[in-house]
Amino acid sequence: MTDQKATNITWHQAQVNRQDRQKLLNQKGCVIWFTGLSGSGKSTLAHAVERQLYEQNHLTYVLDGDNIRHGLNKNLGFSPEDREENIRRIGEVAKLFTDAGVIAMTAFISPYRADRDKARALVEEGTFIEVFVDVSLETAEKRDPKGLYKKARAGEIKQFTGIDAPYEAPAHPEVVVDTDQQSLEESTQTVLDYLKEHKII
Ligand code: ADX
Repeated sequence: MTDQKATNITWHQAQVNRQDRQKLLNQKGCVIWFTGLSGSGKSTLAHAVERQLYEQNHLTYVLDGDNIRHGLNKNLGFSPEDREENIRRIGEVAKLFTDAGVIAMTAFISPYRADRDKARALVEEGTFIEVFVDVSLETAEKRDPKGLYKKARAGEIKQFTGIDAPYEAPAHPEVVVDTDQQSLEESTQTVLDYLKEHKII
């Protein structure tokens, strides 16, 4: 729980609201929250979905773990507390994007169910689309695109998700893609189909 520190602050009501912006953009602002192990394909999938949406004239923005940790969240590491703060901030940023009418996509391991649920609770019902990017640890470790599993196994990285830190799979995700079984094209289509069926686009 993050306490309110500032006092004497007043909420200012905007003159252009979310509905106006959504009308302008011809879409519904939402958060597509990709969660899964490192190497599951979250970023790859988010960017593939973004490409398709762009080609259909939709405004999107991808918030990606490794990138955000270079800036906004550069003061955070991988302890449970820091991961919680990482996800709290991303939840708030995603909420702002949603209010802007944008389709925000977040690609963070976000290993704790409680932290993801808090991010979900920040936005309107129906606008948080949790996508479980499922993969076996075996496959993620085989892919090891950044060589980090190898380092974690060698004890050079501590608290690595899936090795010596937990990953809590979503209980009721809106979408599940299995990147052990499905191609990138299939997974991308699964997400796009969901957006169409639920009138986000
Ligand atoms: S999260 O757990 O707080 O959601 P986030 O998605 O921001 O993690 O960052 C994960 C990325 O950081 C991984 O893809 C990997 O490149 C890198 N990383 C470095 N150390 C760790 C670690 N101990 N556990 C998981 N990922 C790590």
